[in-house]
Amino acid sequence: MSQLNVVILAAGQGKRMRSRLPKVLQPLAGRPLIAHVIATARAMKPARICVVCGHGGDQVPQAVKADDLVLVKQQPQLGTGHALAQALPHLKASGITLVLYGDVPLIGEETLAAMIAGGGDRLTVLTAELDDPTGYGRIMRNRRGSVEAIVEEKDASVAQRNLHEVNTGIIALPTARLEGWLSRLTNRNAQREYYLTDVVALALADRIAVSTVKARANWEVLGVNSKQQLAQLERLYQSQAAARLMDAGVTLADPARLDVRGGLVCGTDVRIDVNCLFEGEVKLADHIEIGANCVLRDVEVGPGTRIEPFTFIDAAKIGANCRVGPYARIRPGTRLAEDVHIGNFVEVKAAEIGARSKANHLSYVGDATVGRDVNIGAGTITCNYDGAAKHRTVIEDDVHIGSDVQLVAPVTVAKGVTIGAGTTIWKDTPPGGLVINAKTQEHRTDWKRPQKK
Ligand code: UD1
Ligand code: CA
Repeated sequence: MSQLNVVILAAGQGKRMRSRLPKVLQPLAGRPLIAHVIATARAMKPARICVVCGHGGDQVPQAVKADDLVLVKQQPQLGTGHALAQALPHLKASGITLVLYGDVPLIGEETLAAMIAGGGDRLTVLTAELDDPTGYGRIMRNRRGSVEAIVEEKDASVAQRNLHEVNTGIIALPTARLEGWLSRLTNRNAQREYYLTDVVALALADRIAVSTVKARANWEVLGVNSKQQLAQLERLYQSQAAARLMDAGVTLADPARLDVRGGLVCGTDVRIDVNCLFEGEVKLADHIEIGANCVLRDVEVGPGTRIEPFTFIDAAKIGANCRVGPYARIRPGTRLAEDVHIGNFVEVKAAEIGARSKANHLSYVGDATVGRDVNIGAGTITCNYDGAAKHRTVIEDDVHIGSDVQLVAPVTVAKGVTIGAGTTIWKDTPPGGLVINAKTQEHRTDWKRPQKK
């Protein structure tokens, strides 16, 4: 295999997105469009990846910068041929240069591999047959079926506009020829641009073979020019993600009602109900059920656990055989051991909770270390914040906390303590026994309810 350069063109503006965010930074599946292209480029293991930036100032370079990328600026943007010329000084001199678009995010590795498989001294254009070719450059072929030229729509005759085979823009070129060809491009066309597509004619003049490859699927070559197209590609991406999960044995209640914005890795017999969103890196072990309407971001879940509907888990590790939710909020830094139950309207933050412990109703457990076999009653709150700093609450093994208890941190409740309902724990307790606050209860029989006038 000869040496490979990948150049990603991303200098264009994308007016039709009607956004201050440059087009290639608009998110698809939670990542900028161009991040998908860069990931695919990396998978090809090229000697160089060069990104041509332009519009949007420093936003694109800032968002994509990485050690293995060469970022070049194209200013002003004088066309796709001019864009590639900016990258030229940074390319490895031999082998093949593959040109990708920052706004064509779903292009697949296999399709690109097919384009460069011929290797060496040839030009390969990725084409597609489109029912509606509007806006694309058309592929002109001679009677023998060989490519003769690519004609931009704005330069095309009525007859040429009727051609349905289009240029996707993705092209593989012999690097050694680039300098000569790019320097011969002119901007004598309807858009006064230096068209990369004109290299086809130059290649033929130089007796270099020009061939075409069709994408494995038409959706791979779809570009994003508007929010509508962005939404369409998002659905395409998500249906692929769902298909891959089902191929791997995951049961989806409805593949059309699942969103994966990142990596979702599942063990065997994972069942996911409708309207779940997975962000970042999520790992689900075997025999897990995720109820409807859950959001999991950067989460690891152990085997046998059930996440009940409407639960939001962010940057946490959930052990085996736990039950979380419905309506639970698990915040960053939470670690649940095995057989933990976290119930409805319970918020847990930066807390470690030991095996078999339970907080089933309406509690806040934050900045806490909770031992094994602890029962946290309804309405219990760790008062972790004194207005200036956060403090930790330690609840040792086998503590039973009644309803509506406040634990004023920093505080430690030692092993085996039982805390009565409504108690405010404001100092450390020794192990065992019952802790309550002295309280009185009055009953005023002479009291009258205020009456409405
Ligand atoms: C280009 C092709 C057309 C093809 C279409 C596919 C040319 C002349 N035309 O047309 O045959 O059917 O793509 O979508 O190549 N870009 C730069 N710098 C520039 C101009 C463009 O970096 O000066 C980048 C854009 O950011 C974009 C890509 O190149 O990622 C394509 O640019 P765009 O303006 O969309 O090209 P089209 O005119 O649509
Ligand atoms: Ca375009």
